[in-house]
Amino acid sequence: MTRGRFITLEGGEGAGKSTQAARLIAALEAAGRRVVRTREPGGSPGAEDIRALVVRGEAARWSPRTEALLMFAARSDHLERTIRPALEDGAWVVCDRFADSSRIYQGVAGGVDPAFIEALDAAVVGAEQPDLTLVFDLPPDVGLSRAGARAGEEARFESKGDGFHERLAAGFRDLPRRFPDRCVAIDASGDADAVFSRVWAVVTERLG
Ligand SMILES: Nc1ncnc2c1ncn2[C@@H]1O[C@H](COP(=O)(O)OP(=O)(O)O)[C@@H](O)[C@H]1O
Ligand SMILES: [Mg+2]
Repeated sequence: MTRGRFITLEGGEGAGKSTQAARLIAALEAAGRRVVRTREPGGSPGAEDIRALVVRGEAARWSPRTEALLMFAARSDHLERTIRPALEDGAWVVCDRFADSSRIYQGVAGGVDPAFIEALDAAVVGAEQPDLTLVFDLPPDVGLSRAGARAGEEARFESKGDGFHERLAAGFRDLPRRFPDRCVAIDASGDADAVFSRVWAVVTERLG
């Protein structure tokens, strides 16, 4: 069985990750691939339980360092129970957020030592890095206004304030420089059709 490919989507709130994940999966399936759609935090029953702890409540409920540990605990379960079995079964996995969100939310924007995050990544993800990471680039005010109405009970990160979201945007913009073999910036402005044509061009060029 040929191992599947692992694609992650990253970027700030409202950048269009979930919209483009749905389109990408439809296009891959139309091309004859089996695809598993998943997301973080969450993506397995245990990881979804941890998600409920991290995305709800007051902004200061957890320190960024504790958040990082919770995120990687969830990621460990998600890899073991969902991602690895799917890839080994030959499916492609499309994951809405993954370890780069820990690098940026807890590391760049949250102030956790990058070496602490990289040690967790090496221990938990190790060689199972994504084959391709699409990084959606959109000014944070545009993303937050797109996302605006939906906040609801999972709004803990949205509530962290403008400075936090500016640091997020800068952190995401820097990812393709930090991980040039894996991360590709996608201009997330314009309508969803225009964005998807950029996504599909990158996916077909990088993964065939
Ligand atoms: N290219 C686009 N232009 C305008 N609105 C968009 C675009 N892509 C997505 N949206 C809308 O913006 C909101 C946030 O998009 P979403 O895909 O949920 O972003 P994310 O998953 O990155 O937070 C949704 O209401 C979605 O329908
Ligand atoms: Mg989303």
